[in-house]
Amino acid sequence: MKKTVPIKPFWYADAVVLPKLVTIITTVNKEGIVNAAPYAYFMHYDVMQHHPRVIVGMRKTTHTYQNIAATGEFVVNFPPVNFLEDLMETCRFYPKGVNELDNTRFTPIPSQKVSPPSIKECGQIIECTLEKQYLLDNIQGHVLGNVVALVLDEELITLGREERFRKLNLPIGLGDEKRKYFYFGLIDKIEKHELKPPPKEERTEGEIKTGMPWEEEALKALMDIPSAIREMVVEMAEDIVKKEGAERVSYERYMKLVEEYAPKDVQERFEE
Ligand SMILES: Cc1cc2nc3c(=O)[nH]c(=O)nc-3n(C[C@H](O)[C@H](O)[C@H](O)COP(=O)(O)O)c2cc1C
Repeated sequence: MKKTVPIKPFWYADAVVLPKLVTIITTVNKEGIVNAAPYAYFMHYDVMQHHPRVIVGMRKTTHTYQNIAATGEFVVNFPPVNFLEDLMETCRFYPKGVNELDNTRFTPIPSQKVSPPSIKECGQIIECTLEKQYLLDNIQGHVLGNVVALVLDEELITLGREERFRKLNLPIGLGDEKRKYFYFGLIDKIEKHELKPPPKEERTEGEIKTGMPWEEEALKALMDIPSAIREMVVEMAEDIVKKEGAERVSYERYMKLVEEYAPKDVQERFEE
């Protein structure tokens, strides 16, 4: 039998289990003093490369939120499992202006493009500038950040995905009990599952519904897209060319869009 449970403060962390990545965000205040604290409410905000952004949720009273408002910069560091004690240390309530990293084994190093330091022991780092900051119900602050640099330990760059998971050794935040005991999961078993191409019988030529005129050649090229996703491709392409002020989809523009949005390795996903 299923039952509802009460929705109380911090419901997302104790009433239900919502596993999340755990990061340490480094910032500086106006005087250049470093601040560091753990943040698990962190996600990429969009998928494309044109204007990559992230979103972080935090209380508006945190030093991190205030420093980001004051300087417009922050760094998201991904600590490995063997630094969880140090991560928890950065979470202790220290007075404003204390550099929490001083009480840990973490080593601050200069970032590539922003002034808050990065953490050497973190194999993966995202440097950000502030795009937008806003309050939600006057308690929580949301920060939208522009990704200005993705920084990886050099040896990670050429590793296969599975080896990279192992090397990064990231803990998964599993929530807490009474805001006192925090739980983390370790990734010690990884499963790989293949996403199969659309079923063959679906891949018929069919009629193409378009919302604006398409050049003959462009329509022909569109037939190379599996029918299961053709409608989505038509919508995306038309949206983009409309925004550019065009009244039809030319072959040249369409092929550029394919190159930009569906590189060869993405297309291979749909090929049997
Ligand atoms: C694993 C973990 C994840 C956390 N995630 C968040 C979060 O996403 N948002 C938030 O507001 N606080 C989060 N906290 C709590 C803050 O880290 C804590 O309030 C910290 O003292 C804020 O520090 P600051 O004032 O120096 O920014 C988290 C704490 C831990 C231990």
